[in-house]
Formats: sequence, C-alpha cells, structure tokens
Amino acid sequence: MKALILSGGAGTRLRPLTYTGAKQLVPVANKPILFYVIENIVHAGIRDIGIIIAPETGQEVRDKVGSGERWGVNITYFVQEKPLGLAHAVLVAKDFLRDGPFLMYLGDNLIGSRVDREVREFAEDETLAASIFLKPVANPKAFGVAVVDDGGRVVDLVEKPEHPPSNLALVGIYLFRPLIFEAISNISPSRRGELEITDAISWLIKNGYKVQSHMVESWWLDTGKKDDLLLANDTVMDEWLKTDIRGYVDPDSVVTGRVVIEEGARVEQSTIRGPAIIGSGAHLIKANVGPFTAIGSGVRIVRSTVEHCVIMDNCVIEDIPRLEHSVLGRRVRVKPTVRNQECLSLMVGDDCVVEIAT
Ligand code: TTP
Repeated sequence: MKALILSGGAGTRLRPLTYTGAKQLVPVANKPILFYVIENIVHAGIRDIGIIIAPETGQEVRDKVGSGERWGVNITYFVQEKPLGLAHAVLVAKDFLRDGPFLMYLGDNLIGSRVDREVREFAEDETLAASIFLKPVANPKAFGVAVVDDGGRVVDLVEKPEHPPSNLALVGIYLFRPLIFEAISNISPSRRGELEITDAISWLIKNGYKVQSHMVESWWLDTGKKDDLLLANDTVMDEWLKTDIRGYVDPDSVVTGRVVIEEGARVEQSTIRGPAIIGSGAHLIKANVGPFTAIGSGVRIVRSTVEHCVIMDNCVIEDIPRLEHSVLGRRVRVKPTVRNQECLSLMVGDDCVVEIAT
C-alpha cells in the first residue's frame, strides 16, 4: 500500500508562524508534527509515501524531510499550486495513487495510537471502498461529522454542520481505493470553493459503496491554533518523553522529572522541571524552565522563568520574571525595555498576539 500526506494548505489559523514556515513543520516536543505522521505511516508497514506540498512552503518541507532515507522509505513530492481542498490534493497525486489502495493522512494531525491494524484490514477486505477514522468531540460544528450504524458502517457525512447529526468528528486519516477518483470527478467545489473529501466520500455512500469507520480510542490533536499547539506539546511530552541527558548540566543546577537535554546544550545555575526538553546548543543561565516546556535549538535563556511554553530555535529570553503559556517563533527576543519601566517597546510582525499583565 502507498500513503499520501497532505502538507500543503494555507495554515491561516497558525499565523504568524505560518507566514514564514509550513504548519506541518511546527515542532511538538522539538520534533516537526510531520515526522510523527511519517513515523506512524512507516510503522504500519508502508514504504512508498507521497507528500503534497504548497509552492510557498514546499521547499522547506523537502529540506527537512528529504528522500525518506532516514526512515528507510521512498518519498515523492507533489506540488499543489493552490489549496483547493483535500479532494483536489488527492487529484494532484492521481498518477502516483491510481494503482491500488492508499492511506491518506493530514500532515498536521497527531494521534496517540498506531494505524497498523486498520491499514491491514482495509488491504485485505476488498468490499470496503473507504475507511475513515472518527473521534467523539465536544464541538462537532467545527469538523466533518459522520453518522454510523451499529456495525460501524458510515451512513452519512456532513462538513461543518450547523445542526450536527452526531458528535463523531472525522480525524484526518482515511483509507481509499482508486474508486475515490471516480467519486471526486462527480463532485463540485463547495461554498468555500474547495473540493471536499467529505463530498467525495458521501458520493461513495450514496452510490451504495461500503465506507467503514474506526474509532480513535487514544487522544487526537489538530494543531490548528496556538492553544492546540500547546496542548499537543503537553500531551506528547506527558505520554512519550523519556529522560535523556546528553548536554552539560553544571553542579549548581537542579533537574527533576522527565527531562531531555540534547547534545551541546548547557545548563548553568538553573532549575528544570520536567516534562521539558532543551534543544541542542541551547544555553540556560540562572533560568527556571518547565514543566511542559520545549526549548528549541540555540535558544538562550538568562535570569528568567519559562513555564508551559514552546520556544522555537534561536530565541533569546533575558531578565523576564515569568513567561507562561506562550509560543515564540524562531529568533524572537524578549527582554526588558531599557528606556522606561512604565512603557512597552515592541517590534512584532503581522498577526502576533501580545498579552500583558496590567
Ligand atoms: P486545513 O487545516 O483544513 O487547512 P489549512 O492548512 O489551509 O489551514 P487553515 O484552516 O488554518 O488556513 O488542512 C488540513 C491539512 O491538509 C493541512 O496539513 C494542510 C493540508 N491541505 C492541503 O495539503 N491542501 C489543501 O488544499 C488543503 C485545504 C489542506
């Protein structure tokens, strides 16, 4: 079987981070989301993977992910000129996918479980036209929503419904056969101008084909917005982080709980409370870091407290009494103003959010 990862899209909800980078490369516990996706696909035994990329961020994805060699797989890239919908992305890779069943996986989705069994069952049961992964959610209006019968067969699908017929949201993982191309050729763009994969699956259902569902029993995180990203970071560190200290920690520092300190990091006169991860080449001096904090490579934190944050590569934080519940993109500098203690002095780009204690 092959797999298709969707790593294009506009990523508007995660601005400003997505002005300068791909949403799927945003780090969770210092590892790009896309890498977790690839690892899950590889674990299911798939060796041939296509990745949909956007013209704006595609090169960065290629540079980070490469040919697939590090996972022992082949990766082929397909440029989708415009984000015209998930079904449109499938069409872009038609020549790659047309010869057999395939797994489709959104590149910004994280789940806490494997997909091995579902992939195997789908490959073996040729009566299935498609399989979709579902998860009960509190706010189904924000998702594609499915109605299933007692045997788990999908009987109806609606995209972002005003009156949700169930609370079962579509997790961004699907299994298809080449029949999906016939379905896509029979649908038109939706009101938001996109070719919707839910419409293509509805076409299969209406035409009597069997669409099966699988319930995701573990957690599922869509990393669409800042709070989702922090939650993804918390969950992944809480569940998967194992202590591994390779960097230098001086005798005056205290490290407690599950903490990763990568090679080349230096921790001096500091306290780290896990779960926390300190990236390679980061330098902490008289700092308090964690819990639930990921510090990227080359970050410098001096005389500051940083808790429940994602701090990306090469940021500098100096003399900040407390930074909490924050996401900093790459190369951000946070330090006290030298001019006047009463004033704020900011240099922030478009769509940034600054919350100040008053
Ligand atoms: P979405 O999160 O639905 O869309 P988006 O990336 O444009 O984000 P936003 O709503 O914040 O603007 O996309 C889900 C995944 O599918 C994501 O990894 C991007 C990818 N995608 C494509 O590859 N091509 C597309 O045409 C679309 C719409 C999404």
